[in-house]
Amino acid sequence: MSTTDAGPKSDSSAFYNPIHDPRMVTGEGVYLIDGEGRRYIDCSSGTYNMSVGYQNPAVIRAIKEQAEILIDCASRFETDPANRLAQRLVDLAPPSLTRAHINVSSGSTANEGALRMAQQATGRRDVVTTFRAHLGQTLWTISLSGNAFRRAPFALEAAGGTQVPDPYCFRCFYAQDPSTCKMMCVDRINDFLEYATSGNVAAILIEAISGYGGNIVPPPGYFQALRALCDEHGIKLIMDEIQTGIGRTGYMFASEYHGVEPDAITLGKGLGGSGAPQAAILTNDGMTGLSGLDHSFTFGTNLLAAAAAVATLDIIDDPAFLANVRDVGQYIKDRLAEMQTRHPVIGDVRGVGLMLGVELVHTDGSPEVGLTNRMIDAAMDHGLVMRPTRSGRSSVLKIKPPLIMTRAEADLLCDRFEQLLVAESR
Ligand SMILES: Cc1ncc(COP(=O)(O)O)c(C=O)c1O
Repeated sequence: MSTTDAGPKSDSSAFYNPIHDPRMVTGEGVYLIDGEGRRYIDCSSGTYNMSVGYQNPAVIRAIKEQAEILIDCASRFETDPANRLAQRLVDLAPPSLTRAHINVSSGSTANEGALRMAQQATGRRDVVTTFRAHLGQTLWTISLSGNAFRRAPFALEAAGGTQVPDPYCFRCFYAQDPSTCKMMCVDRINDFLEYATSGNVAAILIEAISGYGGNIVPPPGYFQALRALCDEHGIKLIMDEIQTGIGRTGYMFASEYHGVEPDAITLGKGLGGSGAPQAAILTNDGMTGLSGLDHSFTFGTNLLAAAAAVATLDIIDDPAFLANVRDVGQYIKDRLAEMQTRHPVIGDVRGVGLMLGVELVHTDGSPEVGLTNRMIDAAMDHGLVMRPTRSGRSSVLKIKPPLIMTRAEADLLCDRFEQLLVAESR
């Protein structure tokens, strides 16, 4: 579609919250395109969901074809797109995950479903999460997430959540060095279980890499230690792979990268490929028992979204595709590390595949939040779309473009990023 086909300019005055210019009209691959035809490299892949890029032709085709056959029907009936999606996810998942619940259309409801399954399976209630976790925007997931500021305006909170320090080695809560800490952040969870919860913990729900919290990559061995702790206490380990799943790290699942088999994995965002609202919960046999009636939604198992997700998996489930994610991700990481030698404000470059974060620091090592926010605000003037971390309270810039990015596009992204950094550092 050309930008001139976009029709008469609409306005957003009826919106509950103000929406800011520019008005976006289309997209192509890694680019989002505005009404003036300006093309922005989207470093946040929409809301981290454009895994195979804007307007991916195969996803469009799958949606169109399914729309001609059956747009939707009640999820109590079998359908081909839903059967295909559930089977495909189970085939791709770590071997112990044998079931797929696909009657969810958002990450928040996928997380809630996995928690309800854990409660059902254990007969327990509480949930342990991390300080910087972002697990969704429903009342329950906001109550369980870290980032207390997000809970502040709301009187009613769900009970039973306990947050523990993140495995954030760059700013270790326990002031430890990863080479000698003996995984203190996991060991101390024993104290939280004993003193801070009701002693009735059903699940630990944790992001494979904390996205919104600052692209925090748990160190090697973290998940093995966490798995052992969960086994010792009969707690279900649920990995939120809503950002990391479906190829984002260059592995189909980040749990593969971490070498851990959780009891459940939740998916969303990139599963829909080019923006379709498909989420999922993958579980092992020990998490069964929740009735179909207890976690089902009108727009869960939407057939257009399921067809889009199958088309997305067809693209991503290819060793060459995943190798490109790892290659281009490493290439960007290397370029950022090279920039770090010239710009001491870059304190840390971290991430896996195309899930990267750049942490800015003052000369004393404290978080440089001001420059981070200025860069996010000015990014579009430099042809980049960037989203803040912790709603502007953090000093981490995230680079998570669509997974189809080429090295040439990665070079352009890095060139623009450095120009932006230099311009806003003045
Ligand atoms: C790690 C993680 N989990 C869960 C969610 C919630 O997903 P949704 O917005 O689709 O409800 C998000 C969304 O940003 C997320 O990043």
